[in-house]
Amino acid sequence: MHCVRPVTEDLYWVGASDRRLALFENVYPIPRGVSYNAYVLLDEKTVLLDTVDEAISGQFFENLAYVLGERMLDYVVVNHMEPDHCAALMELLHRYPGVAVVGNAKTMTMIGQFFDCELGERALTVKEGDTLPLGKHTLTFAMAPMVHWPEAMVTYDTADKVLFSADAFGTFGALNGNLFADEVEFERDWLADARRYYTNIVGKYGMQVQSLLKKAAALEIRYLCPLHGPVWRKDIGWFVEKYQRWSTYAPEERAVLIVCGSVYGHTENAMDILACRLAEKGVRNIALYNVSNTDVSELVGEAFRCSHIVLAAATYNNGIFTPMENFLLDLKAHNLQNRTVAVVENGSWGPQAGKLMREIVDSMKGMTLLGEGITLKSAVKAAQREALEALAGQLAEDILG
Ligand code: FEO
Repeated sequence: MHCVRPVTEDLYWVGASDRRLALFENVYPIPRGVSYNAYVLLDEKTVLLDTVDEAISGQFFENLAYVLGERMLDYVVVNHMEPDHCAALMELLHRYPGVAVVGNAKTMTMIGQFFDCELGERALTVKEGDTLPLGKHTLTFAMAPMVHWPEAMVTYDTADKVLFSADAFGTFGALNGNLFADEVEFERDWLADARRYYTNIVGKYGMQVQSLLKKAAALEIRYLCPLHGPVWRKDIGWFVEKYQRWSTYAPEERAVLIVCGSVYGHTENAMDILACRLAEKGVRNIALYNVSNTDVSELVGEAFRCSHIVLAAATYNNGIFTPMENFLLDLKAHNLQNRTVAVVENGSWGPQAGKLMREIVDSMKGMTLLGEGITLKSAVKAAQREALEALAGQLAEDILG
């Protein structure tokens, strides 16, 4: 049975949510599920903006048929060719043989790569600034390369001031009836997942996101319609400001993230001591994670949030404790910059992790290493307790400064 929601008088959300998928892109845990958004605009011409993932295509086609009623579909705009949005494209062409496919030149190349399909005259190739008149509404197109793939683009409805923003401004999390961000407690219940989505999916491409934000700044936007998660019609500036920070690698908060890789608990004991001293010095909302049982995508999100990071790890195989090394390499791959970092190592007979962690941090842009680091040889002793106290003082002063 169809399950749609109107966005404006002429625009309908025809997407659906997947609450069964464990790993988005077969990488990122999504315990709250994920939505794949698609939209239909009814005018003298009818337009579908993007399709959906294979998993929910049945629901999507029911929604689409319901909204169109007896009308034909004139256009499908393909803003993004990743299969979570284009998997249903061939089935769409089969069901609606008269539909023209609107995309840029790279989109058309990717359609040929993903499918055995000759679009011929059904392909309508657009470039930056092109317009598509529909009657009352006119769509314009802006390229958004690497947000998140090279062919990505966004579409703007000049009549109702709607920006169809593709992956930008999306988030993990199924839509539970409440389509609009102002129908949920977004900051309380969604922001962490929105941050985790952004940082892990497009965090590496801050400059390209900045280009898109500059284009968006020139538009009046009343509705922001991403391909995942809630639609925005209020407080859009608040969410854009988050993107501004994330894409310039500016910390969202003056706060500390402590990531701990501990084999038997001694390194963790040191971090508990550090956290207690920080709290006594007035630092609030300290985030301390066990790197071994926290998904790395959560840690990447937290690292983008916090201004200060403490890395504490055991030495393992004469290197960095494996989950910590994995986290650090992932952080570097996502291009995190401009953080203050302190390093604590443990090594009962040959401590090496500190030097190696510092080398990775040093190879990242704009990172400031705090002090020389602290070395534990097995358990915390009086000398290290003092060093941790001193580190807490340095960190607290810098954070609260
Ligand atoms: Fe939601 Fe890059 O696809």
